[in-house]
Amino acid sequence: MAKVRTEYVCQSCGATSPKWVGQCGDCGQWNSLVETHAAPKAARSGGISGTASGRIQRLQDVSTEESPRVSTGMPEVDRVLGGGIVPGVVCLLGGDPGIGKSTLLLQVLASVQGRLPTLYVTGEESLAQVRLRAQRLGLTNLDVPVLTETSVELILAQLGQHKPAFVVIDSIQTLYTDGLDAAPGSVSQVRECAAQLVRFAKATQTAIVLVGHVTKEGAIAGPRVLEHMVDTVLYFEHDPGSRFRIIRAIKNRFGAVNELGVFAMTDAGLKEVSNPSALFLSRHGDPVPGSVVTVSRQGSRPLLVEVQALVDQSLIGTPRRVTLGLENNRLNMLLAVLHRHGGIALGDQDVYANVVGGMRIQETAADLPLLLAALSSFKSRPWPDDWIVFGEIGLAGEVRPVAAGEERMQEAAKHGFKRAIVPEANKPRRSAKLGIEVLPVARLDQALELL
Ligand code: TYD
Ligand code: MG
Repeated sequence: MAKVRTEYVCQSCGATSPKWVGQCGDCGQWNSLVETHAAPKAARSGGISGTASGRIQRLQDVSTEESPRVSTGMPEVDRVLGGGIVPGVVCLLGGDPGIGKSTLLLQVLASVQGRLPTLYVTGEESLAQVRLRAQRLGLTNLDVPVLTETSVELILAQLGQHKPAFVVIDSIQTLYTDGLDAAPGSVSQVRECAAQLVRFAKATQTAIVLVGHVTKEGAIAGPRVLEHMVDTVLYFEHDPGSRFRIIRAIKNRFGAVNELGVFAMTDAGLKEVSNPSALFLSRHGDPVPGSVVTVSRQGSRPLLVEVQALVDQSLIGTPRRVTLGLENNRLNMLLAVLHRHGGIALGDQDVYANVVGGMRIQETAADLPLLLAALSSFKSRPWPDDWIVFGEIGLAGEVRPVAAGEERMQEAAKHGFKRAIVPEANKPRRSAKLGIEVLPVARLDQALELL
């Protein structure tokens, strides 16, 4: 019998340690190490070491035939997948519990049914529950094959027998493999189960979607440990209280990253929002201080987004800097630039910044709108509500160009915006054609003078 080794696995990042420590040396999480019995070598490698069938080829000899994609029949899902389902793709769909992962995938399965042989494997719900949900979604003539099973070995046996081309595993945290004696949901189980499914997908060209729950602290085996193993990582995002759901592609070996799909949760499931451009504006009656509209580029799609700021006299020694949907460090940096290059000190003011509708902006194009919103709130002077702003701000107070400037201005013009404050270097050659008046700025102080 192989000797059983004991090791300690961090439940947050998956790092292993030979002895217990209070804080994970890799990710810094406290109290996250759990004792596990490491699997004997053979079970771990899953037979991979025995494959001698690999052949060394030169890149020029590799066939570049595009693998045919199968549309899911839901354009917003196709968009985040990069154009449809690719044979052999393994996709991780993460998100908070209750956000709508099972609902969406059931709708996708029903939509794909007939074009691809599918299988829905659920380890979380009973078949009756799945059936009830399908009825609630109005999918009455649903003939999707369903399986309740949590053992990876038995699931793989079923897959080998029925040969579906598109499989949904709901969820990866409920699966376990006999090769390990850790509890289902622990990092080592999640990782090993996913590895077996990935090997199967690649060997048989089966497309597999793995559902993964993200917990707030990431304490229970976060699906993050799987991100490097799969081809595509999609995350559900939403604003608590809003019925809109956003799916964002964090990683995609078969398409663009940061691509967004937008859905609305209704009482009959998720409905696609095909033109979400004006969704993230709050439509005030009159212009209000602290609000600036920008055009953010999410994947291949420009979106109009409202950035809001509130600047208020601070009552505590260290003023608060709070951001929602924006990066906190970036706000601190921008306020320093505003002080040094704009001569405006907000050192005794609390600054709160928010993006409307639960949207998250990661690109630097939101720098200038964020500063102008903060300034507008500070001075209690509103910006005209038919202006849009975008641009990156450098530490020297310069306004730097951003990608796809013209496309952003076109999108704004399409929605009736009249003027655009943009980086000098993004100034279009023929602005008349865009249908929007362009106010180029090269430095921060030029932008400040416009207020
Ligand atoms: P679900 O898909 O079960 O979430 P997950 O699999 O991500 O945990 O979604 C459950 C939530 O969605 C639940 O709170 C109820 C809501 N919902 C609707 O509003 N309308 C519907 O038609 C369905 C099926 C669910
Ligand atoms: Mg679910």
